[in-house]
Amino acid sequence: MTYFETAQEQLKRIQHRGTARVLSIETSCDETAAAVVQDGRQVLSNVVYTQIPLHQPFGGVVPEIASRNHVDKVGPVVERALQQAHLTLQEVDAIAVTGGPGLVGALLVGVSYAKGLAYAAGKPLVNTHHILGHIAANYLTFPDLVPPFTCLIASGGHSHIVVVEDYDRCTLLGRTRDDAAGEAFDKVARVLDLGYPGGPQLEALAKQGDPHAIRFHSAFNEGEGYDMSFSGLKTAVINYMSNARQRGQNVNRGDVAASFQFAVNSILSDKAVRAAREQGGPLALAGGVSANGNLRDMLQQKCQKAGIRFCCPDFKYCTDNGAMIGSAGYYLLMKGHISDLDFNAVPYLPIA
Ligand code: KG4
Ligand code: ZN
Repeated sequence: MTYFETAQEQLKRIQHRGTARVLSIETSCDETAAAVVQDGRQVLSNVVYTQIPLHQPFGGVVPEIASRNHVDKVGPVVERALQQAHLTLQEVDAIAVTGGPGLVGALLVGVSYAKGLAYAAGKPLVNTHHILGHIAANYLTFPDLVPPFTCLIASGGHSHIVVVEDYDRCTLLGRTRDDAAGEAFDKVARVLDLGYPGGPQLEALAKQGDPHAIRFHSAFNEGEGYDMSFSGLKTAVINYMSNARQRGQNVNRGDVAASFQFAVNSILSDKAVRAAREQGGPLALAGGVSANGNLRDMLQQKCQKAGIRFCCPDFKYCTDNGAMIGSAGYYLLMKGHISDLDFNAVPYLPIA
């Protein structure tokens, strides 16, 4: 029997049983992560090795450094995830891995490693979309949350408003026309001389400022549609800073950070809550920017006012991790989405 025939037989058994422990691997950017998740909802282990200190001197992720470090760390991280779950490789039912989107060299490390494990153990392999993983972080936090629901995805590479129709299917309502929200946070953080990763540091600086001190405005976002744009706001901050410098004026960086954060989060939350109200279901938040306390608070308040249930992941599941891939992977597995060993990592992969 070929590898794939074995995997298909296993899949039938798993689907019949309706229960599975999934070992998951995530290496799409600068975190080497692995986890074991039971039935999409129960985290048995979740190990994240972050490369942030390695990239900090360069002010951003250096793809080559990311790939090389994933190669060093993926084996030990997977081993620790199995140990912490008190399981052997043979005792897990399937392997899920992020196949895209992300940095192609980084993705390839996880994908190749997962293929090796799946082949050696004769286990089904689930090619998992990174953004379905971010959405699934909500399933880990809210056991009763099931599709359909509206979701605002805000990460370093994505700003999307989608309807999660089912565990394996989204419909796109709107997306950024230019920068992703996290990317805009990171770029403005750089203008404010904050280190990498910029989002959390900009949030910390914003706590010392007045969100209404400066009006950073972007006409595009006032439209009725769900598409968004953040590069105009970023340029407004750059212009504000360089004008002040030319005039020799002192800038209150806290006010700039708070006002920029307020502008971005207002756009994200207004559009997402309007979409959820129109769809008539709960609103979930997903992606690295979901760690932003100001965004979480704004969404919570606006949802409460609109009578909409609001869900956002536990902090530990907001930024890249293995558990979210294990959850998404479980549901893909149950729907029969398994891959042979010939699939490839894909850097650009649409969500819908
Ligand atoms: O989802 P993620 O971990 O990686 C991608 O898939 O892109 O998101 C990383 C992004 C970065 O742009 C980072 O600055 C942003 O999420 N981020 C934040 C915060 N924590 C992470 N942005 C604003 N406030 C935060 N607290
Ligand atoms: Zn991510």
